[in-house]
Amino acid sequence: MSQQRLKQYLKQMTLNEKIAQLLQLAAPFYDEVGDAGQITGPMESLGVTAETVHNAGSVLGVSGAEKVISVQQSHMKHNKYGIPLLFMADIVHGFKTIFPIPLAMGCSWDIALAERSAEIAAKEAAVSGIHVTFAPMADLVRDPRWGRVMESTGEDPYLNSLFARAMVRGFQGSDLKNDKERVASCVKHFAAYGLAEGGRDYNTVDLSERQLREYYLPAYQAALDEGAELVMTAFNTVDGIPASGNRRLMRDLLRSEWGFNGVLISDWAAIKEMIAHGVAEDGREAALKAILAGVDIDMMTSSYVHHLPQLIADGIIDEALIDEAVLRVLQLKERLGLFENPLRGADPEAERQIVYCDIHREAAKELALKSCVLLKNDGVLPLHRNQKIALIGPFAQSGDILGNWSWNGSRELSAKLGQSMQTLSVSSVTIVEGCGIDQITEGQIQEAVTVAEEADVVVLALGESSDMSGEASCRSDIRLPEAQLRLVQIMKKLGKPMAVVLFNGRPLDLHGVYEESNAVLEAWFPGSEGGAAVADLLYGIANPSGRLSMSFPYAVGQIPVYYNHFNTGRPKPSEDTDEKYVSHYLDIPNAPLLPFGYGLSYTSFCYKHLSLSSDEIGETDTLQVKVEVVNEGKLSGTETVQLYIRDVSGEVVRPMKELKAFRKAELAPGESIEVVFDITEKQLRYHHSDFSFTSDAGQFELFVGPNSRDTMNAFFRLNK
Ligand code: GLC
Repeated sequence: MSQQRLKQYLKQMTLNEKIAQLLQLAAPFYDEVGDAGQITGPMESLGVTAETVHNAGSVLGVSGAEKVISVQQSHMKHNKYGIPLLFMADIVHGFKTIFPIPLAMGCSWDIALAERSAEIAAKEAAVSGIHVTFAPMADLVRDPRWGRVMESTGEDPYLNSLFARAMVRGFQGSDLKNDKERVASCVKHFAAYGLAEGGRDYNTVDLSERQLREYYLPAYQAALDEGAELVMTAFNTVDGIPASGNRRLMRDLLRSEWGFNGVLISDWAAIKEMIAHGVAEDGREAALKAILAGVDIDMMTSSYVHHLPQLIADGIIDEALIDEAVLRVLQLKERLGLFENPLRGADPEAERQIVYCDIHREAAKELALKSCVLLKNDGVLPLHRNQKIALIGPFAQSGDILGNWSWNGSRELSAKLGQSMQTLSVSSVTIVEGCGIDQITEGQIQEAVTVAEEADVVVLALGESSDMSGEASCRSDIRLPEAQLRLVQIMKKLGKPMAVVLFNGRPLDLHGVYEESNAVLEAWFPGSEGGAAVADLLYGIANPSGRLSMSFPYAVGQIPVYYNHFNTGRPKPSEDTDEKYVSHYLDIPNAPLLPFGYGLSYTSFCYKHLSLSSDEIGETDTLQVKVEVVNEGKLSGTETVQLYIRDVSGEVVRPMKELKAFRKAELAPGESIEVVFDITEKQLRYHHSDFSFTSDAGQFELFVGPNSRDTMNAFFRLNK
């Protein structure tokens, strides 16, 4: 449909009909939609009429091919312009085939597989009637107390940017209008939601614009560079103004500086929440600030429907502001091909074939295999299939391994750890719960002790329930719950070899687990095939290859702790220093327990012969970095060779290390590979105090290694 035709709608629709296009309703409004179009949703709570609902622009959370077809057909009957409804939903890490949570995916460092996961998620969602997904979540995170770190890919802007791009490519493909197996991507939460003070959800975010641009914006920008169709506002303030009413952030930066002309949707009720924030006296002022900031869709409040007409009647705003917002919504519908085919990809028969099919589940298992991170191993892993195993813990046979934001997944159908291990074992795997998530009984203890005493190896399956992370699920104490720590202590006393598998949505404080165990495998929430993947890893059918994309703190008191930190003027010279007047704690180390990029393998890799093509480069030169990596172990394995750079002296302080490149290499026992990285001046640029994004001549230090801590280094100069 042409732009002209879309603009024709603006002329035909009344003001109220146009504003209704900016309203997003939730699923309950469409529970009982019949041919008569009787709307049974909580209209009174939202204060909207059936006529408004018939003119609504979009709905959140309705899915299922038959349901979507029914709602859309009813809607088209009652919308006198034949403008179709947009169906949106949170397809964050899978639709029904649930992939590992994004934080786990971030630990795979597998960009291609991330794209594949998004492509599969889009295919299942599209055939089930979804048009738009509220993903990727591109928020950079440094505080594991925040429950939503599970939705992010981690603490590094470069790695997050690569994943954000991959997810947009997977969701949208290259021809969104005609490829009915794709969905539009809505990158969120703009901006810097991950910096909520105290790691407490919805809390204040305050940072310099330079920090915002250097660390927190790159992944959103990457998603938009990749063509993401929508942006979602964050709940938080940015520089004292809630994102949903922040004209500098939305009009000046997002739309003018970055040139984004897609749909900007508020987060749930975020427009109305400006009243609670204290920047709007009432819904009218909230609506005014949001429309002036360029927010197009009001998610789940009726601020726009109730107040925009009067704001126009009072001459406070011009109707042109409404028209530009409505046009963007209509253009999105046009780019999705909805005017030609309002049902788009919804297809009950195809849905039955495609959703949760074997091929999709195999992809979910592959990503789970690559997302798990071996944090410790003294040799107790891999297990031998003829060993007698006692599998104990609340996750031994749990289906709660999908993680938050898996609303359409099935815990019942997911591959459980215990069953998967029993399938692989040629001896015995005895399964007992041992304790609940946060309670333990004498009976459970007795049963666990009995089973453990008869076993060769004890495997503890521990962690957080999935509702202990995700939205509004922040923790001040990020250790395992006391009951589980007690179980570890009791099992430790038996003196048996003990491996721990963790199912959790955030880096944990591993006091009470890490030292006590012979091995620790971080499984995160590994998704629909997670139990099968973990079992394969425990038995060595697959070799762990995950690398942490977020640091594990030594203790919650360290937070925020992240690898790309500044040096300060009084850096602590070493962890065992006795110098007092340096930046340190009296009671704990500065270093995290486990650093960004860290992860072990069942084999061992050795780094040799780091060399640079030159010790200086000009602006147009390429510095070639070579390193030899050898698999010195007895098993094949995949190493993630990481390259970091430090700008030794900048116009502003610069991080001790910044990830600039990485390469995954699968090596057979004894095999070696020469990994080559090309570094150019572009990779040395950063935001200066005047926000110019340029590099400085001077000395740089370069690091290569298996993680951000254990590296080989070299120096080079940039001449300008
Ligand atoms: C929630 C979340 C957001 C989600 C939206 C719709 O409050 O903040 O990530 O997409 O509401 O469910």
